[in-house]
Parts: sequence; C-alpha cells; structure tokens
Amino acid sequence: MTATAAPALSAAADKFVSAGPHKLLIGAEWVDAADGRSFETTDPATGQSICSIAQAGAEDVDRAVRAAREALGGPWGTMPAAGREAAIHALANLMEANGDELAELEALDNGKPVSMAKFVDVQLSVAHLRYYGGWPTKIEGETIPVATPDMHCYTRKEPVGVCGQIIPWNFPLLMAAWKLGPALAAGCTIVLKPAEQTPLTALRLGEMALEAGIPPGVLNVLTGDGETGAALVDHPGVNKIAFTGSTEVGRLIGATAGKMLKRVTLELGGKSPNIILPDADLEAAIPGSLQGIYFNSGQACNAGSRLFIQKDQFDDVVGAMAEAAKGMKVGPGLDPSTQLGPLVSKEQHERVLSFIESGREQGAEAVAGGGVPEDSNGGYFVEPTLFADVSDDMRIAREEIFGPVLVAMPYDDLDDVARRANDSEYGLAAGVWTRDLSKAHQLAAKLQAGSIYINTWAPSDAGAPFGGFKSSGIGREMGHANLDAYLEIKTVWTNIA
Ligand code: NAI
Ligand code: MG
Repeated sequence: MTATAAPALSAAADKFVSAGPHKLLIGAEWVDAADGRSFETTDPATGQSICSIAQAGAEDVDRAVRAAREALGGPWGTMPAAGREAAIHALANLMEANGDELAELEALDNGKPVSMAKFVDVQLSVAHLRYYGGWPTKIEGETIPVATPDMHCYTRKEPVGVCGQIIPWNFPLLMAAWKLGPALAAGCTIVLKPAEQTPLTALRLGEMALEAGIPPGVLNVLTGDGETGAALVDHPGVNKIAFTGSTEVGRLIGATAGKMLKRVTLELGGKSPNIILPDADLEAAIPGSLQGIYFNSGQACNAGSRLFIQKDQFDDVVGAMAEAAKGMKVGPGLDPSTQLGPLVSKEQHERVLSFIESGREQGAEAVAGGGVPEDSNGGYFVEPTLFADVSDDMRIAREEIFGPVLVAMPYDDLDDVARRANDSEYGLAAGVWTRDLSKAHQLAAKLQAGSIYINTWAPSDAGAPFGGFKSSGIGREMGHANLDAYLEIKTVWTNIA
C-alpha cells in the first residue's frame, strides 16, 4: 500500500461534518441526549476522531417512541396513500441531488471507496426508496367469498405501527434505506438507530426527511450503541423491530421480541459458499469470485467467503486468484484509486487479524495477503487474503470473518460439494459458476440459502427478496415480502341480512 493523503472533503460534506457535535432527531427537534452523553465517530483510514455524536439513552428512546406514536395517530396516519408516495419520492430526489455528499460522508465514516459509495450505496438507496415509493397506492385488501350467507367479509392492510430499526455499519445508508422504504410505504413510523461506528449518513438522512416534507415524528434518528439498541427493543411502545447485524445480537433481539410478541425481522450473518464447476467460464468466475469476497473489504453479510473449486483445477484457479488479489489497491476510501478500503473499526481489525492468525495456527497457508499493509498510517487496513489448504472444520472455514479473507477448498463432485456447502449454520447466499444450465439449477434447488447467484455474485434489486435460511435470519428484506412485514391484516365481517 502506498499511503496517499486523502483529498479534502467537498464544501457540502465538510459543512455537515463541521456542524458537529451532532444531535438526536426526535420529532421536529435536534436535541442533545437527555443525560448529555456523547461518543466520537472515527475515520477508519486514520483511526482519528471525525466528530462528536449524541449517545441516546433509555429516556431519549422513550421520547422518540412517543413522537413516533403521535405521528402515527396524526399527520402520517391520516395522509392519503398518494401523499406518502409523494413524500417518499421527495426524499429519494433529495438523496439523489445530494448523492456526492452522502457518498463522501459514507467513505469518511465507513472507510469504503468513495466511487463505490456513490455508484452502489447511494444509487441503490435512491432506487430502493423509489421502488417502495410506488407501493402505497397499491396496498389493497381482499374481498373473501365466505360460506356464511349474508356476510360481507373483506380485509384491510394497516401499518404495524411504531418500528424500531437497528442497522449495521457495513452499508449504513443503504441498510437505512432498505428499512425505511417499506416502513414508510406501509404507513409506519420509525425510530432509526444507526451503528455507533457509522452514524453520519443516517443523521443527514434525518435532515433530508424533514426537508422532503415527511411529517416530524415519522422518522426519528437516535445515535448510540448496543445499549441504545437494546432500550429500543425493550420499549413496550415499539410494535416491530427490524435488525441487520450479527447473529449473536439477532438471537438476543429475537428472544426479547418473542417474549413481548413484537413483530421482528432479522437479517444476520453468513458464510456463503461459492462453487466453481469445472466447465465454468474462468474469465468470469475468477473476477466474479474476487469481487464476491473483497467487495466492501469483505464486510458484507452475503460475502462469498467459502470458495469450492474442483480438485483437478484447484491449483490453477487458486494461483490466478492469488495473483489478482495481490494486485488490488488498498487505501483510504476517499482516495479515488482505492479498490479496498480499511475495515470499519479497531475491533473489526483485531477480530479479522485474529481469524487470520487462527487460520495459520490450524495449518492453512495464506497464498495471498495475510497481514497488514506497510504504511497503514493508523488506519485499519488488512491485505486481501486468500487461504489454501483449508479443511472444512477450521474456524476460518466455519465462522463469519467479515473481512477480506477467502478460504479455498477442493471438492470431488456435485454431491460432495452440495453437502459441504450446506454444512454450515448459515444460509444467506450461495453461488455457482458453470456453463451447464442443468447442473446450475440442480444445485440451486439443493443449496440451502436465501439467494442463489448463478454466474454472478450479489446482484441487488429493490424488488428481489433478500434474507436468510437457518441462522442467517428471519423474514425477507426487499420486494413485497418486506412490505408485508410492516402490515397487519384486519378482517372485517358485516352481517348484511
Ligand atoms: P452488532 O450486531 O453488535 O451491531 C449491529 C447493530 O446492532 C449496531 O447498530 C449495534 O449498535 C446494535 N446492537 C448491538 N448490540 C445490541 C443489542 N443488544 N440490542 C440491540 N441492538 C444492538 O455487530 P458488531 O459487533 O458491530 O459486529 C460483529 C460482527 O457481526 C461482525 O464481525 C460481523 O460478523 C457481524 N455483522 C453482520 C452484519 C450483517 O450485515 N449481517 C453487519 C454488521 C456486523
Ligand atoms: Mg457490537
């Protein structure tokens, strides 16, 4: 890595950052935390503080939930569906108009390459809101042909109510958009809790929601850590929790939601298998598989982190992938030539390095990377790493690393690889590279995962459901499946005799 000084922020992004310390959005007001606490958000490319952010506590959660309840019974609840559509589109338009600023804030706070933030995070967020912006006027109940004579029976779909939305740090803006879109479309109100590592774009989104004419209280933004998130999950006034993050915290949230009978959707971890069949077009499979793991520095829930290669071509494919990995440019997200940014935090940096260490201890060989680049300049950089000689029971082959670390394993035949691919507690995604359509679809049916990628990795569309089998989650994000997660069905019977 060559340490280049990152370019200065644009005037717009600098203005937002310099306006710190940043406050909580509750109703129409930007307020300090009730107990005055705050925390620092850090630039992962340098380890330096960016600015100070209010740390919401239980009292702030209570006030935000009340504001959300009030908006539900007030301007938002009574607004015609077409009004909600217009408001969601207005927010999408503002996000698009301020896309460069949002991309810079994301690159600064998360570390990801700024061009990727622009073309992936911002563009997909805008597209997501536009997709859900089309839904409010199409949420229809049904007339049921019941057997009882003289009864008219129909269903209404009503918003679930106040939603607590807890999002992670790997795609801060996009995960917020994923959760806001269906909730707003359904007519719910929201208390949004961004991750403590990356609060900036959610705060900017809060400003834009007010500017877009979304009534105050519909979107409240509470910055804070797991304690803030837990207070939101525990609050009796929250009807639904939507969470993306670790499987460990997902289990805790699921348990609380179960006890309180709250609606819940969980989008959790993964250890997704990526299978190259011997007849695959390697010119597509190799770069596609590299992208599958190193995209966002491996900090993606659906990263293709277990690579299966048929044993006869194992050495050739691994060799080509190792060469390509060694050539990737690691650097600060704000440097336009960067391909791989730093990891988000000191904790993630230590965590990923300890996985690399465990791989070596258990006898795997790093054929690319395996360390920290020179001139890291205080940033949380890790080299793109590829382990060969990996056996299925090693920690690096079983646990979610959430960093730029790929493990490659040889297989014999289709049955062997399908069984081993499914031998995981997770089931988020799985990929197959082949020219043989019949084998592709046989595997698609066999693989236990919420998304199957054939000759591609992780395309995304707001209309296409996304979520996990097994310990990778409950429910689906995106598409009308996620809209349903924000709606209750009410059945109305009328005696018309
Ligand atoms: P985490 O699950 O602790 O954090 C995700 C979000 O949950 C953050 O907003 C956090 O403040 C909040 N949170 C934490 N504890 C909570 C609690 N008890 N109740 C309610 N909210 C809570 O994830 P963390 O510690 O940042 O990362 C650890 C690992 O989790 C990563 O290495 C990765 O393996 C996985 N992860 C998976 C993600 C995904 O996209 N599925 C995203 C982020 C992390
Ligand atoms: Mg945590």
